[in-house]
Amino acid sequence: MPYYSDDIIEEVRSRNDIVDVIGQYVHLTKKGSSYFGLCPFHNEKTGSFSVTPSKQMYYCFGCGKGGNVFTFLQEYENMTFTEAMQELADRSGIQLPETEMTSQQKARSAKRDKLLEINKEAATYFYKMLHTDHGAIALKYFEDRKLSPETMQKFGLGYSDKYSNDLYKYLRSKGYTDDILKDSGLVTIDEVKGGYDKFWNRAMFPILDANSKVIAFGGRVLGEGEPKYLNSPETDIFDKSRNLYGLHLARRTRADKFILCEGYMDVIALHQAGFDNAVASLGTALTSGHANLIKRFGKDVYLSYDSDGAGRKAALRAIPILRAAGITCKVIDMNPYKDPDEFIKNLGAEEYQKRIDNAQNSFMYTVQMDEVDFDMSDPESKTAFYKKVASRIVEFPEEIERNNYIEAVASKYNVGFENLRQMVNNIGVRQGMGTKVNADEVEPRTKLKSGIQKKASKEEGMKTSQRLMLTWLVERPELYQMIKDYIAPEDFTEGIYAEVAKVLFEQFQESGMANPAKIVTMFSENDEQSQVAEIFNTNVSGIEDTRDWEKAIKETIVRIKENSLEQRRKNMDANDVNALNEIIKSKKMIQELSRMNFSMTFVN
Ligand code: CTP
Ligand code: MN
Repeated sequence: MPYYSDDIIEEVRSRNDIVDVIGQYVHLTKKGSSYFGLCPFHNEKTGSFSVTPSKQMYYCFGCGKGGNVFTFLQEYENMTFTEAMQELADRSGIQLPETEMTSQQKARSAKRDKLLEINKEAATYFYKMLHTDHGAIALKYFEDRKLSPETMQKFGLGYSDKYSNDLYKYLRSKGYTDDILKDSGLVTIDEVKGGYDKFWNRAMFPILDANSKVIAFGGRVLGEGEPKYLNSPETDIFDKSRNLYGLHLARRTRADKFILCEGYMDVIALHQAGFDNAVASLGTALTSGHANLIKRFGKDVYLSYDSDGAGRKAALRAIPILRAAGITCKVIDMNPYKDPDEFIKNLGAEEYQKRIDNAQNSFMYTVQMDEVDFDMSDPESKTAFYKKVASRIVEFPEEIERNNYIEAVASKYNVGFENLRQMVNNIGVRQGMGTKVNADEVEPRTKLKSGIQKKASKEEGMKTSQRLMLTWLVERPELYQMIKDYIAPEDFTEGIYAEVAKVLFEQFQESGMANPAKIVTMFSENDEQSQVAEIFNTNVSGIEDTRDWEKAIKETIVRIKENSLEQRRKNMDANDVNALNEIIKSKKMIQELSRMNFSMTFVN
């Protein structure tokens, strides 16, 4: 992990204008001193996503995401901070200091680069071949499967020729040696007979990683034949349990869920039908590596596995893996068709959308699959089924969740809520999980909640006042001179506000100017960065003319000051005379301030 100095970070940040960078991804329109567009981080119809050049920050008033130019690339492109640094340094022609790699790391990295090059060459080769006379039969195959020319191009589909070594010869002619080619997964080197292609006379599907680099291939037999699909073996650049087919496209979706399916053709058919969120785990069972990858892109899942026995089994295995990674999933019913590709070909995109809208909760799906194993007309078997379900419900850690599922199962499978709850409790107690479903517990909790809510709204008000003051300082730097005698960073009592205020006040002292985007970089977590963006993007409407401004500012200072005094008094040692004097002094100052006529002139 390379380490960069604050200076170089700040140079890279300041040389990349945030409007230019975000403008490459989001269509922005100027409104006043900011730009607005549709938020790329949540689904919306009106643009609440703002980018402000003077602050060099973005902030979404809808979902609360925000930060500086680094944050944006980290969130949107899923880059690490280092990757964002490198990207933006390249963009602005800044040479970053060399980071030290061991010679072993260097060799490994060079090899990976070479393997990526080879795969890219091969993809281009297959793609070109598809559009020659030789490839006509594969082109027809794709056409028969109803793929449009745009779709073929989008997925880089190709054809591997009938000859058993034409790709090998081509790659050799490009200068690659047997030594590296044997590790590419594309050819086998025979000591005596030379090199052989792995794929021949197949329809080719390049597999790209999340960054659109070709890392492997799948090849389908044209028509019937075994094996139906042949895939690149695992190599230094291809780990099939950590890649999802279609992810390089689906990562751009605005949907909050990925559609997870089984095959190449399913992903392609779904994208062609307008479902830009489809991905596939490609023949291998879903792994926790896949689940973590999905999580990294912040998505939940619609499972759209095949409707046959194997597909159902695979779905039942995938559900707990997804749940363990914190991903919620719903199951799409594809009946009477086998897979999404066939479904869409027969019933179309609209019908598929309906199936998405009606997708089943994954727990209820699991229960429904359990039911098949039991004879519900036999009392004993029926009881066994309920026990099985109860043992699943016990696994939910939250009582409210358990109750919800007890309710759902009770109403669907015709069993009394209390009976099922008793079963769940018995199993829970036996497992020593302390699963006590106790009505007495619920009551005080609800009471407490209303109390908290009241307190929260007062706290919210104070938070807003403090944020407002920090926003004003950034938007009207001349305000600093006027308030600095009244307000100190310690007066900001909410969360990270004091930290932010401290740095902001230092910036004013050093240069008379604010640099909010630099403050963002001090925080390493994206949600903290969003909080900083929120702090500097606080609005209250209705303050337009100068008199209102004066009044609003004065009131805000008084409110913030009173709150911080109150806090100090609470935490004060009763015998501390100095502290008491301080408080009395501040109190007087507030009174004066309230009476004073602020004759501030703000330049709008
Ligand atoms: N698969 C594989 N090797 C096989 C069969 C299947 O790697 N011999 C993988 C492929 O990624 C394939 C997925 O498993 O896309 C699903 O397989 P299957 O349902 O059998 O095929 P379909 O995707 O329906 O293939 P098609 O529509 O082309 O017949
Ligand atoms: Mn299929």
